[in-house]
Amino acid sequence: MANILSFFVSISVTIFVPLCMAATSFNDDQSVLLEFKAHIASNPHNVWPYNWSSATGVCIWTGVSSGVSGRVMALNLPNMILHGDIPPPLGNLSFLLALNVSGNCFNGDLPSELAKLHGLELMDSSNNELSGEIPSWFGNLTELRHLSLFGNNFIGSEVADFMFNNITGSILSSIGNLTNLRELYLAATDIAGEIPWEVGNLLNLEVLDIGEMGLTGLIPPVIFNMFSLKMIHLANNSLFGSLPRDICLGLPALEWILFS
Ligand SMILES: *[C@@H]1O[C@H](CO)[C@@H](O)[C@H](O)[C@H]1NC(C)=O
Ligand SMILES: *[C@@H]1O[C@H](CO)[C@@H](O)[C@H](O)[C@H]1NC(C)=O
Ligand SMILES: *[C@@H]1O[C@H](CO)[C@@H](O)[C@H](O)[C@H]1NC(C)=O
Ligand SMILES: *[C@@H]1O[C@H](CO)[C@@H](O)[C@H](O)[C@H]1NC(C)=O
Ligand SMILES: *[C@@H]1O[C@H](CO)[C@@H](O)[C@H](O)[C@H]1NC(C)=O
Ligand SMILES: *[C@@H]1O[C@H](CO)[C@@H](O)[C@H](O)[C@H]1NC(C)=O
Ligand SMILES: *[C@@H]1O[C@H](CO)[C@@H](O)[C@H](O)[C@H]1NC(C)=O
Repeated sequence: MANILSFFVSISVTIFVPLCMAATSFNDDQSVLLEFKAHIASNPHNVWPYNWSSATGVCIWTGVSSGVSGRVMALNLPNMILHGDIPPPLGNLSFLLALNVSGNCFNGDLPSELAKLHGLELMDSSNNELSGEIPSWFGNLTELRHLSLFGNNFIGSEVADFMFNNITGSILSSIGNLTNLRELYLAATDIAGEIPWEVGNLLNLEVLDIGEMGLTGLIPPVIFNMFSLKMIHLANNSLFGSLPRDICLGLPALEWILFS
């Protein structure tokens, strides 16, 4: 994904700068981003958004990548120690493929308007101060391949009903709907309960990071037959089960596993 992001960056800088101001919907994207900027309450390191200005096209703004259409395709703003919240209009960036705001101090809920980002493939909002329910609408983002939510203040007992049960705060079987998912990072969230067997439907999954979560019950044996899995982190839960003898056959891609 890093390659894809830098691809967008280099395209927008080298070829499409002349188109930068042209497209109409581009101006809508610009107003959405200016709205987002207005929700940044403080920026202690002053690294951003000093150059997000209506005087220039978004494609030369820090952290913004746009495509041929001039529409915003990636927002890459990690580790900038930004304080603020994520406003609903962000859901209007209908061409967005990647949103990385990890390592900031964004607080509040993830607004349900983000469910309109139908093409979103990557969402990394790890290590922020987001709270409230883990949104039910993740099930609408069917192109999602990478989802990182760890290191926030989502509360298990309040989480909604798509992947997580509202009452027990557990992972629900409907997680099996996200068949494009490649990387799932939930470690150290307050989600508990059992691991649903439907996790085995995620045939493209490469990273399953569900350590440090208070999970209980049997480790579904299907996990040991997920051909794409490269990394499994189950440590510090209260799980039981047994490792199959032929683990290398069932998990041919495995590079890293942590069970302690
Ligand atoms: C914003 O900053 C980035 C990196 O520092 C630079 O490449 C870009 O040209 C700047 N954009 C504007 C509009 O000044
Ligand atoms: C988000 O950005 C951080 C910092 O550059 C990086 O470490 C992380 O891998 C990115 N997330 C994704 C999903 O690419
Ligand atoms: C963005 O979407 C909101 C609804 O979430 C709408 O009220 C608003 O007018 C839209 N803004 C832009 C700039 O498209
Ligand atoms: C998710 O998709 C369903 C079906 O298309 C729709 O009814 C629902 O409103 C969407 N959820 C959100 C939060 O947009
Ligand atoms: C998951 O997929 C099933 C079957 O495709 C569908 O009936 C169900 O509504 C989906 N659940 C969610 C939460 O999207
Ligand atoms: C989940 O619980 C919260 C508070 O306990 C409640 O406001 C919300 O409506 C519930 N959501 C669902 C989907 O039941
Ligand atoms: C599990 O928790 C213990 C105690 O909190 C901690 O020392 C250890 O590093 C954790 N293990 C992993 C693999 O994170």
